[in-house]
Amino acid sequence: MCGIVGVVGNPEAQQIVLTGLQRLEYRGYDSAGIASLGAEGQLTTRKAVGKLQALLDEVATNPMGPSTIALGHTRWATHGAPSTTNAHPHTGGLGPNTLTVVHNGIIENYQELKSEMASLGAKFLSETDTETIPYVIAASLAHSADTMAQAVHAASKKFRGSFAFVVMKNGENNQLTGTRRGAPLCIGVAENANYFASDPLALAGITSKFIFLEDDDIATISPQGVEVRDATGKPVERPVKTLDLSTDLAGKQGYKHFMLKEIHEQPAVVSSILQAYTTADTLLPTLPMGSLNLAGVTYINIIACGTASYAAMVGKYLIEQYARVPVNVEVASEFRYRNPPYPPGGLFIAVSQSGETADTLAALEHAKAAGQHILVFTNVTTSSMARAAHAVIDLMAGREIAVASTKAFTAMMTTLSLFALQLAAARGLSAKEISTHITALRTLPNHITNQLTNTKPLEDLANHLTAASSMLYLGRGSLAPIAFEGALKIKEIAYIHAEAYASGEMKNGPIALVDKNLPVVNLATSTDGLFEKTVSNLKEVEARQGQVILITDTEGATKLDTHTRDKLTLLTVPTVPAFISPMVFTIPLQILAYLTATAKGTDVDQPRNLAKSVTVE
Ligand code: F6R
Repeated sequence: MCGIVGVVGNPEAQQIVLTGLQRLEYRGYDSAGIASLGAEGQLTTRKAVGKLQALLDEVATNPMGPSTIALGHTRWATHGAPSTTNAHPHTGGLGPNTLTVVHNGIIENYQELKSEMASLGAKFLSETDTETIPYVIAASLAHSADTMAQAVHAASKKFRGSFAFVVMKNGENNQLTGTRRGAPLCIGVAENANYFASDPLALAGITSKFIFLEDDDIATISPQGVEVRDATGKPVERPVKTLDLSTDLAGKQGYKHFMLKEIHEQPAVVSSILQAYTTADTLLPTLPMGSLNLAGVTYINIIACGTASYAAMVGKYLIEQYARVPVNVEVASEFRYRNPPYPPGGLFIAVSQSGETADTLAALEHAKAAGQHILVFTNVTTSSMARAAHAVIDLMAGREIAVASTKAFTAMMTTLSLFALQLAAARGLSAKEISTHITALRTLPNHITNQLTNTKPLEDLANHLTAASSMLYLGRGSLAPIAFEGALKIKEIAYIHAEAYASGEMKNGPIALVDKNLPVVNLATSTDGLFEKTVSNLKEVEARQGQVILITDTEGATKLDTHTRDKLTLLTVPTVPAFISPMVFTIPLQILAYLTATAKGTDVDQPRNLAKSVTVE
C-alpha cells in the first residue's frame, strides 16, 4: 500500500517519478504528490487529491522547474482522509535541517513521537503518522548524527510498526536515503543515476538492475553510487538482480479493463503451470520443494489473506482428501497474534499473489522463528515472502494489475492442487490415480476458454443484479471457498453487500435474510456426490421466495425436475471431475462480478477504498 519512487542524478527525474507513480497506482490511488530540489537545493512540491491524473494535471499547470532529484508518492490513506494536506511528500525541520519524506506503512507510535517532537518545536500540519519522520530524523541530525544514513539509522530505532520511507534533505540535491522494515523497498541501479521504488515495475525501461533491501537496511543513493548499511550500521553488499520487466508493461491489449484481460489470461496461466510443474510423459507433479522431505510432513498450516485464503481452503480440501495430512487454513491477521502451537514435522505454507501482504509476511516470520519449514506460493519471486522462504512455488500468472484478483486465484488453486498430489504421491497414492487427476487438470485451459466465449446469460443476470442491495453465495465441499470468493468479488468491484456460507450452514441463521429481494447464488456440481443435498438447500430458499440462481454443470442441470428448473435462474458450466470443479466454477463468478460492476459503472480496476498490495496490518 502506497507507492514510492525516488530519483537522483537524472535530469528527467520528475518525469521518471511521475511515470513510476502511474505504474504504482495499484498500490493506492486516493492522492499523490511529488517534490524536487532545484540547482540551489530549493524545494518544490506538488500534490493532488484523487487518481494520479490529477497530479499530472497539477504538474502540467504548475511546472516544477529543472532538477535532477525528485521523490514521489501515491497514497492509500491510513492516518487522515485523502486531502492535499495529508498527501505525501511531507516536509519538516528542526534547526538548520529540513527534510522531505515519502512513506509507505504505519508508524504506530506516532502520537508519542508527535508530542516529543512538538516539545522540540515541530509544527505539524497534517493528520498523518508520516509527518513525524522528518522531525525525528532532523532531531537525530541535530544531536548525534553526522550523515543522513546515521540520522535515519538512529531515527528508525524510535519508530514502531512496519514501513518503508525515502528522505531527501533540503539543500542537498545529490543524495536520497531510504530504509524499510516489513514494507518493500528496492534500489534501481544505473550509470550516473540511482533510484528507489516500492516495486521494480516503477523503473521498467530505466534500469533492469535491482537491489532488494533487507529489513532495517539503510541505503544512501547518489549519482555516483549506492551505499547500504545493515541494521547494525555496518556497510554491506546486497546482491544486484537483473530483472526483465518488459512483459509487465504490456498494457490492456485491447481489453476494456485489466480485470477482463486477466480473466482471459487464465487458460494460458494454467497451461504454463502444468508445463512447468508436471512431467509430460508420466503426468506427475514436480513442484520444487527444496530440502523438504514431503513424506515426513505431519501437519500443515496454510496462511493467507482475502482471495488467497479461499484458494488455501480449496488446497485444504484436496490435501486432506488425497494426502490425508491435517491442514489448518487461517487468515494471517488472526494467526500471527495467537501464538499457535507448531507440531514437529509441521509445514508452514504462505499463499500470496504479491508476496508482500504484511499480515501474511509476519505470520511467516513467526513460523520461521519457530523452526517450521516455509513454503511460499507467490506470483512475485523477488518478494519479501519469497526471499524468506525455504522453497518458492512461482504462480506463473504474470503481473496482475487489476486490484481484484482473478488469474492469481486460479493459479493458486492449480498449484495447490498439484501440491496435494505431490504430497499424496509421497504418502503412497498411486501414480495411476495421480496421473488421472493431472489429466483432468490438463483439460482446464479448454474448459475455461469455452466459458469465456458465451457470456450472454451472465450479462442478463448481471443487469438484473445491478438492482440488488444484498446477495448470498452458497456452496458445499470444495465449492464452499468458491462461494466465498464469488461474494468477495461482487463486494469489491460492484459494491453489493454479499455473504457466503457453506450451503449446509444457511439454515443455521442466514436463512432469516431470505425474501423476494435476495438473490442467492448456489454452486452445485453433479460430480462430488453432494448435488442432491445442495438442491435441497436451494429449495429451502425457493420456499421462502428468494431469487434462486443455480450454477451447476450440464449433467447436474439434467437432474433438476421441471418445477425446480422453472423457478430458478440456471447457468451451466461443463461437467468435469470434482478435482477441477473449483477452478471451473470460479470463472462464471468472476465474469458475473465484472459484468455487474461494468453495468453499474464502477471503477473496475481500481475500486474504491482498496489497494492491490496490503502492506499495512
Ligand atoms: C481480492 C484480493 C485480496 C487479496 C489479499 C491478499 O480480490 O485481491 O483479497 O487476495 O489482499 O493479497 P496477496 O495475495 O497479495 O497476499
